[in-house]
Amino acid sequence: MSVPVLTIDGPSGVGKGTVARVIAQQQGWHLLDSGAIYRAFALAVDSRSIDISNEAALEEIAKNLDLSFKTHKDSELVSVYLDDQDVSKVLRTEQTGEMASKIASIGVVRAALLKRQQDFAISPGLVADGRDMGTVVFEKAAFKVYLTASAEERANRRLKQLQAQGSEGIISQILAEVEARDARDSSRKHSPLKPAKDALVIDTTELSLDEVIAQVSELVKA
Ligand code: C5P
Repeated sequence: MSVPVLTIDGPSGVGKGTVARVIAQQQGWHLLDSGAIYRAFALAVDSRSIDISNEAALEEIAKNLDLSFKTHKDSELVSVYLDDQDVSKVLRTEQTGEMASKIASIGVVRAALLKRQQDFAISPGLVADGRDMGTVVFEKAAFKVYLTASAEERANRRLKQLQAQGSEGIISQILAEVEARDARDSSRKHSPLKPAKDALVIDTTELSLDEVIAQVSELVKA
């Protein structure tokens, strides 16, 4: 692979997206939020009322997914369009994350979305975040990071994020959701969540965001 790729994998709520965005800005590289692709796909399936046991129909939708990302100048926001509709808000809900996690365990879906993700690796470089970026999608990436943190810490971060947005949350419920998603993503047959053998594993439980960014930044610059 000629284009430098940094993969950032890890469980939900660990802060991969924020770290990926900052490093991509620092390096002037492209950004792939692969979770957004699975989330948008789940929305597309939901809106068509397809039974998720119908693998041929799922494959067809995955192959023809009309999805685009629009980055805003002077802002951290990325808008996501599905069938020309702005789905950025509904994309981020816990319910969409749940649907995505269920549907992401299906092998034909992952295969049909593979090339779409690999096509993001264009000059001058790419930061890709998800669950299987370093193990499957960009197996030969030059730089690989796996971020982790205790489920309690990730649930706390999620609660703070919700509160900052003016929403409410119940910590026990958020923790249960985090643990359920971890269990599903790690135990599935196809591309389970796990660190690549050559990934730098960073436990962020006791680290600030700046400390995590500094470690990842050092890896890419070294
Ligand atoms: O990262 P995010 O929470 O947006 O991902 C939503 C779901 O999509 C995850 O729980 C996971 O099941 C799935 N996913 C995946 N592989 C990726 C990215 C996300 O299976 N590379």
